[in-house]
Amino acid sequence: MSDHASTPSSAGASSAAGAPFPEAYYQANRERFLQELLELLRIPSVSADPAFKADVRRAGEWVRDHLINLGAEAELAETEGHPIVYGQAGNDPDKPTVLVYGHYDVQPPDPLELWDSAPFEPVVKDGFVFARGASDDKGQMFLHLKAFELLQQAGPLPVNLKFMIEGEEEVGSAHLGDFIRANRERLAADVVLVSDTAMLGMDTPSITTGLRGLSYVQVEVTGPSRDLHSGIYGGAVRNPIQALCSMIDQLIDAEGRITLPGFYDGVRVVPEGDRKAMAEAPFDLDAYRADLKIDAVAGEKGYSTLERTTIRPSLDVNGIWGGYTGEGAKTVLPSKAYAKISMRLVPGQDSKRITELFMREFPKLAPDGVRVRVTPDHGGEPAVTPTDIPAYRAAARAVEESFGKAPIPLPSGGSIPIVSLFEQELGVKTILLGFGLDSDAIHSPNERFGVENFHKGLETLPRFHHHFAEAAKG
Ligand code: BES
Ligand code: MN
Ligand code: MN
Repeated sequence: MSDHASTPSSAGASSAAGAPFPEAYYQANRERFLQELLELLRIPSVSADPAFKADVRRAGEWVRDHLINLGAEAELAETEGHPIVYGQAGNDPDKPTVLVYGHYDVQPPDPLELWDSAPFEPVVKDGFVFARGASDDKGQMFLHLKAFELLQQAGPLPVNLKFMIEGEEEVGSAHLGDFIRANRERLAADVVLVSDTAMLGMDTPSITTGLRGLSYVQVEVTGPSRDLHSGIYGGAVRNPIQALCSMIDQLIDAEGRITLPGFYDGVRVVPEGDRKAMAEAPFDLDAYRADLKIDAVAGEKGYSTLERTTIRPSLDVNGIWGGYTGEGAKTVLPSKAYAKISMRLVPGQDSKRITELFMREFPKLAPDGVRVRVTPDHGGEPAVTPTDIPAYRAAARAVEESFGKAPIPLPSGGSIPIVSLFEQELGVKTILLGFGLDSDAIHSPNERFGVENFHKGLETLPRFHHHFAEAAKG
């Protein structure tokens, strides 16, 4: 086996200790792999918008057909919502089984006018693939299909592979829990492998060791029974938008703490040792501020930016509206105001309890003259993935061989609610081996995925399977 001509950081990685890797096949085909990804990215599989229902399905079919063409058994499992792709390759009782999870649905591309190129007409430019879903999660999920192809080129599969690729991740995975409960046997595995998170940097590879949970609510504040002339009534009637703003303002105090009584109950205190390790992670606050073009960061007193976004809960207004927002001025005292509020949760918190807490406590913040209604949206539980299991060590080894550097274990601030269900329903741990970067602009205009990230993912995943199989042999 030869070293990668075009990836100097992995020089020496394919030593005797390394896993078998079909270097020549990889070099000869990786450009085709990228072109195939572009095909998938052209399908606008926006799960949130019913107008794209048929396209979401088409993306699922594309993934299913791709698996079949690679030699796996695969099917579309229908749900009340978008279908789930289930696939399987290898069924050797002497080999461990890896369940690959990912999603083929994407976030809406709005606001369209802020894209430099069309979200569903992918372009490869400056070393990046630009398209909605390039990183989250089509680009990363697709790596697993190609890892399967590469593994087959290097000999018999070292592991049994199962694939569960869903089409509703971006809208809360409402039907995946039922699918898992109905297919416990079929989904039985020794570990779940997911590439749907980010690394710290290409020079500072990391493996995600935790995810935050989520409680998402919508609030409606109603004042007068109809919109009023703000000259005739202004000054005498409570304005629901202003009431809502003051209520929201009370949710976080001057120290950056969330004020809902009981919100922090049970929150796991992160051991000093872990906090020390996080403080040593190469995180550049100046680069962070420069990237976001902000002059200061903000958040809970006593915690670093990395901590605030990972091991501590947070509360954000995701959208707020009401009254007149069109061109020019309309003088109106509106009847209603709305906001969408999300709370990111950490181990020790439970999304159902937090949602109920919010529904009970938020209306108490209302001044007189308005009524408040809170409607729960989706939620999900936080997850911690261990670093002291063979699968984690296999992942760390694979990353080290591909990147030429040992990965840093780091929790992430995002949410993949299904990960806690894998543990709960299947009793299986999840390895979050993501190849994205925070700068990929996921959920934003101009989402992108580095071509180098794509290649590193291709090099790392087959190695993971080999090392995991080896570890399972004992
Ligand atoms: N892939 C993301 C989650 C993610 C991104 C985790 C980056 C870690 C780092 C996933 O597709 C996502 O967007 N999840 C949603 C939650 C879901 C219930 C809509 C999120 O985190 O907002
Ligand atoms: Mn995702
Ligand atoms: Mn997402």
